[in-house]
Amino acid sequence: MVEAKTESRPRIGVFDSGVGGLSILAALQSRMPQATFVYAADNAHFPYGTKSRDEVIQLTVATVRAMLKRAELDIIVIACNTASTAALKYLRERFPVEFVGVVPAVKPAAAETKTGCIGLLATPTTIAGDYTSDLIANHAASAQVVLVGSRRLVELAELKLRGIHVALDEVRAEISPLFNQQIADKQPADKVVSKVDTVVLGCTHFPLLIEELKAASPWPVKWIDSGKAVASRVADVMKITKYNAQASDQVAGCVFLATTLADTESLQPALQQYGFASIEFLSLSP
Ligand code: DGL
Repeated sequence: MVEAKTESRPRIGVFDSGVGGLSILAALQSRMPQATFVYAADNAHFPYGTKSRDEVIQLTVATVRAMLKRAELDIIVIACNTASTAALKYLRERFPVEFVGVVPAVKPAAAETKTGCIGLLATPTTIAGDYTSDLIANHAASAQVVLVGSRRLVELAELKLRGIHVALDEVRAEISPLFNQQIADKQPADKVVSKVDTVVLGCTHFPLLIEELKAASPWPVKWIDSGKAVASRVADVMKITKYNAQASDQVAGCVFLATTLADTESLQPALQQYGFASIEFLSLSP
């Protein structure tokens, strides 16, 4: 059972449908080594990225409720773009705890691109959502944005964390629509579009595949994820400015909760690297 919070050790909840939130957790741990982390994966309902918005809202609300029942938390990071873009507003209305969400880093990508052409790689549900079209309209109106939804990359990240080799050909096939501008370059002059030079990793699972993504892309691009920005935002919200970490602070007391223990044993070695000694069951029943 998770102990009560203390002044000196902020208690941060991190939520995702699976292991994708570990890419955010890594940034949080490096920014706030004094914190303890309660990670909840709703792996019983994985993947979220092909579900309807209403289903994602309902499942996210149920998991957050179970997390708060299980542990006293100062803040919860919705370390899932699919859940954040669908459910953040509902969570804030419903629960008296601070939330920080993770949404596709379209704004920094639009500021970064030199060719004026950015890619957004996310789950199909995030790609189709109104939140994403609003983000693009508000922050990348002058850029060309190539949208690619992939469910397979999410699965590949889960497999990688279970120690299974990820074939580059599979990754290449998933990201190839981002780079179709190669064909466009051969079109008549008035149809020519720019080459993508910046790609937003709009799903927290994707930074876990960064080596494979780099190796599979036909030309180098800048890959932008939200980890550092989210960690800074959490530190700001919690008013954590400076902390002198001690050896004993390192990821002490971290708990990994899963809504099913099926297919989790092979995750243990990867989870140990994030400071999780074991995986505990989180019941969603009221
Ligand atoms: N990690 C989640 C995200 O950032 C999606 C994974 C899933 O499809 O369940 O969108």
